[in-house]
Amino acid sequence: MSIINYHIRKAEERDVKPLAELDARCFPDPWSEQSFQEDVVKNPLAYYLVAESAEGELLGYAGVWMIVGEGHITNVAANPDYRRNGIARAILTKLFETCQKEHGIGPFTLEVRPSNDAALALYESFGFQVAGRRKGYYENNGEDALIMWREG
Ligand SMILES: CC(C)(COP(=O)(O)OP(=O)(O)OC[C@H]1O[C@@H](n2cnc3c(N)ncnc32)[C@H](O)[C@@H]1OP(=O)(O)O)[C@@H](O)C(=O)NCCC(=O)NCCS
Repeated sequence: MSIINYHIRKAEERDVKPLAELDARCFPDPWSEQSFQEDVVKNPLAYYLVAESAEGELLGYAGVWMIVGEGHITNVAANPDYRRNGIARAILTKLFETCQKEHGIGPFTLEVRPSNDAALALYESFGFQVAGRRKGYYENNGEDALIMWREG
């Protein structure tokens, strides 16, 4: 059980700046504030959840695009100061539940770096399996992407 007091809610426009700041701490190829603005605020197919501490700090987020009955996970990240506290697991659990109950989304797919052991373990624990590979997918270092799939 987590020792941190936080809640999970739908992302809003006020989260855009903290999301970009968190992304910059979590990824070699982070999304810009403008990218989050487009996706979180304007994209009708996108759905983002954030975990926020009692003090209002952004602890993590996950996003999905819901396209013709499938969920494409765009990203998942947890604040480096609070990892291994079940935050990503809690966000994804709520994301899958909401997509399934409110939007009838069945299968989910995502891309992940083969070197990302933490993310691979997280996704496998939710039943994702490797379904393919995109050669040289990541622009920053030319790393392949594993395509993972989870049946609905
Ligand atoms: C991957 C990431 C989102 C996990 O966030 P987190 O909140 O620390 O994860 P949780 O505490 O919810 O862990 C859930 C499970 O994921 C797996 N996991 C998480 N971190 C792990 C690590 N460092 N090593 C191995 N397994 C790990 C474990 O199975 C864990 O369950 P357990 O703690 O019961 O063993 C986080 O490490 C992160 O933000 N990484 C950088 C961004 C990133 O790579 N995102 C994924 C892009 S595809």
